[in-house]
Amino acid sequence: MEVSTIPDHTQPPIDDCPKIPPGPVLTANAFFGSDDKTANLLDVGQSLYLTSGRMAIALALELGKITRGDEVLVPAYHCSSMVAPILHAGALPTYYKILPDMSIDLDDVAKKLTRNTKALLATHYFGFMQDLPKLRAFCDEHGLLLIEDCAHAFFGEVNNLPVGSYGDYAIGSLMKFFPVFDGGCLVSNRHDLSGVTLHSGGKGFEFQSLLNNLEKSFQYGRLPVLKWLLILPLTMMSAVWRSVKNNRIKRGQSTKSAPVASGGGFDFDHEWIHTRSSRSTNLLIETLPNSPLIEKRRNNYNYLADALRECSAYHPLKETLGTSTVPYVFPLYVENPDPGFYKLRSAGVPLMRWEFVSDGVDESTCQISFLYSRHLIQIPCHQALDREEIDWMIDTIKQVFA
Ligand SMILES: Cc1ncc(COP(=O)(O)O)c(C=O)c1O
Repeated sequence: MEVSTIPDHTQPPIDDCPKIPPGPVLTANAFFGSDDKTANLLDVGQSLYLTSGRMAIALALELGKITRGDEVLVPAYHCSSMVAPILHAGALPTYYKILPDMSIDLDDVAKKLTRNTKALLATHYFGFMQDLPKLRAFCDEHGLLLIEDCAHAFFGEVNNLPVGSYGDYAIGSLMKFFPVFDGGCLVSNRHDLSGVTLHSGGKGFEFQSLLNNLEKSFQYGRLPVLKWLLILPLTMMSAVWRSVKNNRIKRGQSTKSAPVASGGGFDFDHEWIHTRSSRSTNLLIETLPNSPLIEKRRNNYNYLADALRECSAYHPLKETLGTSTVPYVFPLYVENPDPGFYKLRSAGVPLMRWEFVSDGVDESTCQISFLYSRHLIQIPCHQALDREEIDWMIDTIKQVFA
């Protein structure tokens, strides 16, 4: 792939279209391989499959009886989908500091405790584990509910226990690791989840989930043979779907058939909290072997770390992976990120950053979080990227930043 000319946009593009998949999409290779022994969130104990990670946080808060007036400790470095479930519960988010290596600043957490503090949300950023024994001991000492946010860490272990084992509840975001339209999970080995009732998202949701998985894969040039085989039935199905939607509009009915999380973005729609994930998500999670996913993500991360070594313009936040780390993205700290970040996005490089911190969070809350919200750029390293695409991203990033 050629390095394209970089358009000189200084503002975020409203509707940018990535040239390469920002997250996992279905590929033929995904189906071949064995199941890896690396522990994962579903090894923890009981689990519930939901439609997204944010719905899993909301359900964890509900099961933990967090209500109006309670305070929940949240890292100052966050995205809004981590905070929205807390606000939905009527609770107050209290922001705590993180340290430069992204570990939780427990001294600051201790200072933020009040009589109303009921829970601590601990995020394993980008796939790297927090110090869980220390966090568990802290929460036990202060009577706090520990919610492990494993949205970036579906795989991994601590002291030979799968990620998610130390929390009262742990949540995962399946869409970040698997080629699925929807998916989150809530797991626990400390609380019984068997009494939780979930309902189906309906036929429209099931249909959209299946269709979207295939369409997204075809859009990025994956599974070309299947595309040609399915082009006619898929076109017909899309036409039927459009007509169903038009009829609903005419009758003044809602056309919303999928949770917002599946369309990207950080919004929160509470009516999906008790909805189970689609059948196509469940089928793919059960069918796809883990080994190609784990191997590709780790290789891609190491390749990026080698190509984007420390220089005066940027440095990798974590140069090396732990033995059981399966990364979500490759975090790169860039000294002067603007306007380069927007230029790269306009060029189709699917970069992310958590640039919009919540109300009440500023430099004085946590200087590191404030810096990271602007300077820390998340580069995809998922399993569906091929080497040519990664090389193109690296060349384009170097062209802009170095
Ligand atoms: C750390 C973290 N936690 C939770 C979430 C919510 O996950 P989901 O997008 O599946 O709702 C996200 C989403 O970006 C996240 O980055």
